[in-house]
Amino acid sequence: MLNIAIRAARNAGDLIQRSADNIGQLTINQKTKNDFVSEVDRTAEQEIIQVIKYAYPDHGILAEESGEHKGNDYTWIIDPLDGTTNFLHGYPQYAVSIALKHKGKTEVGVVYDPLRDELFTAEKGGGATLNNRRIRVSNQTNLNSALIGTGFPFKYPQHLDAYLSMFKELTPQTAGIRRAGSAALDLAYLAMGRLDGFWEIGLKEWDFAAGILLVQEAGGVVTDFSFDDKFVQSGNIITGNPKMHQALYQSIEPFVTEKLK
Ligand code: IPD
Ligand code: CA
Ligand code: CA
Repeated sequence: MLNIAIRAARNAGDLIQRSADNIGQLTINQKTKNDFVSEVDRTAEQEIIQVIKYAYPDHGILAEESGEHKGNDYTWIIDPLDGTTNFLHGYPQYAVSIALKHKGKTEVGVVYDPLRDELFTAEKGGGATLNNRRIRVSNQTNLNSALIGTGFPFKYPQHLDAYLSMFKELTPQTAGIRRAGSAALDLAYLAMGRLDGFWEIGLKEWDFAAGILLVQEAGGVVTDFSFDDKFVQSGNIITGNPKMHQALYQSIEPFVTEKLK
């Protein structure tokens, strides 16, 4: 199943890269405010679904652009292009994200950066890799030397004040904060130590399903804003190595409103 996920991610990545030189010619639609989709997102998603359906016709699918396709106990969670806004601006930070869940547990996760040809993979209980080499989260324990990733809650103005309070609290405490624009890659970078911690409000399952397995298999801890594992429901995530996760949680927790719990 990991091999199918890799094949699907590479095919989609090749398709995305072939379009990267012709961004000006692409048809782009706005789904909601600040939320764009291009024909590249859609064709990449169709390519992924085709590869999966050919190998596993009975499996279910949850894909960002085409929604839910019912199936058996297995469900593939697909974000064909994570970082669409970056891609459409020629900003080089985007990826394909594919995960496979069995009876609610993520078994396989793949995040593929087609621009740098970086393939991140994880299998439940089998560790995480970048281009076939084992990866681990960083062992940074001090916030003040930590590089922290985040995402702005641009789709949720109701959470902006709470988010900005968290940001204000963390900025002076850390070595730096980055908002790179692809949550799937942020989590992959955390899994291999380029980032020491990460938090974001309101992600969707396709943004993080593969990335969270990468982080967990690389020794990281992931929780929601209540120190619980209900991030699939809330989309709110705090993650890092166990000590960094604890430190981040302590800084963020005072600003967590009822609605973010
Ligand atoms: C987005 C990216 C971004 C995150 C947004 C996501 P998309 O995914 O992951 O980093 O902040 O919340 O929607 O729309 O480019 O697939
Ligand atoms: Ca996404
Ligand atoms: Ca997407």
